Amino acid sequence: MEEKKEVNVINWFPGHMQKTRRQMQENLKLVDIVIELRDARLPLSSANPMIEEIIGQKPRLLVLTKRDMADPKVLNDWLRYFKAHGIEVLAIDATHDDLKKLIVPTVKELLRDKLERAKARGIRKKVLRAMICGIPNVGKSTFINGIVKKRAAKVENRPGVTRSLSWIRLNEDLELLDTPGVLWPRLEDQKAAKKLVLIGSIKDEVVDLDAVVSSALLYLKEHYPSILKERYHLEELNEDPKIILNDIAISLNLLADGKADTKRAQNFILKDIRSERLKGISLEEPNE
Ligand code: G4P
Repeated sequence: MEEKKEVNVINWFPGHMQKTRRQMQENLKLVDIVIELRDARLPLSSANPMIEEIIGQKPRLLVLTKRDMADPKVLNDWLRYFKAHGIEVLAIDATHDDLKKLIVPTVKELLRDKLERAKARGIRKKVLRAMICGIPNVGKSTFINGIVKKRAAKVENRPGVTRSLSWIRLNEDLELLDTPGVLWPRLEDQKAAKKLVLIGSIKDEVVDLDAVVSSALLYLKEHYPSILKERYHLEELNEDPKIILNDIAISLNLLADGKADTKRAQNFILKDIRSERLKGISLEEPNE
């Protein structure tokens, strides 16, 4: 039997994919390193399926954003997981960390060989260039604004580059390509897609929200029962996610004609997951 598509987003990024792929490939030639952002609560599913394919030998730094919202223990497991797979990884809180202090030395260390080769050729001050990319809502704008602060200055467009790409100079060592590559999320895997809706990378309008919120409630019930109970003032968690949703609506006093307004409760839960109101949760684990 064919799997029911609860997150039917196949047509969501129609012409985008080919165009983005071409742009990414062009931009890749201009940079020394790719900084790929993913959500720390969903470190595998929030990857873009194309990156591995087009990145080739280009060095990559994986940055897991929203560290402050993830389950610290699970996040640690993920950091170990990526390191064990030979992937350079950092977890950040893009809204509070001193990003420049974190990122610049890491990038320089990753590109040490390149810097040394440049030095051997007599280039004393090689400016390194980085491209930031990630699927929607993982925090690309926040990251760029945070790392740039006010001191960064825009650099002239480079000669020979036809499209108007602009560069942001962080200091004498590092420049960022300021058009962050927006990539499409993973669409084929329904389980991953439902979680991508939770973190706001796939729009609510194109999915079956009942299925998405039911799966989320089941996951939270299994992994974070006390956070769930505490946030929504629930004594017990029913086996049936629809009943949990009903209980949450009643507990939050979200009623319509005296009955639980489950649509409003759904939106409330989604907002909680996407904001700092429901912290300390991760949505996938390396051993799953
Ligand atoms: P994007 O460019 O990749 O699409 O993502 P963007 O920077 O717009 O970030 C999406 C949301 O995630 C924003 O919240 C942003 O503040 C939040 N965010 C990004 N990085 C972090 C992080 O490390 N920790 C936390 N706690 N939040 C982060 P928003 O509610 O959509 O917007 P706003 O309230 O900031 O205006």
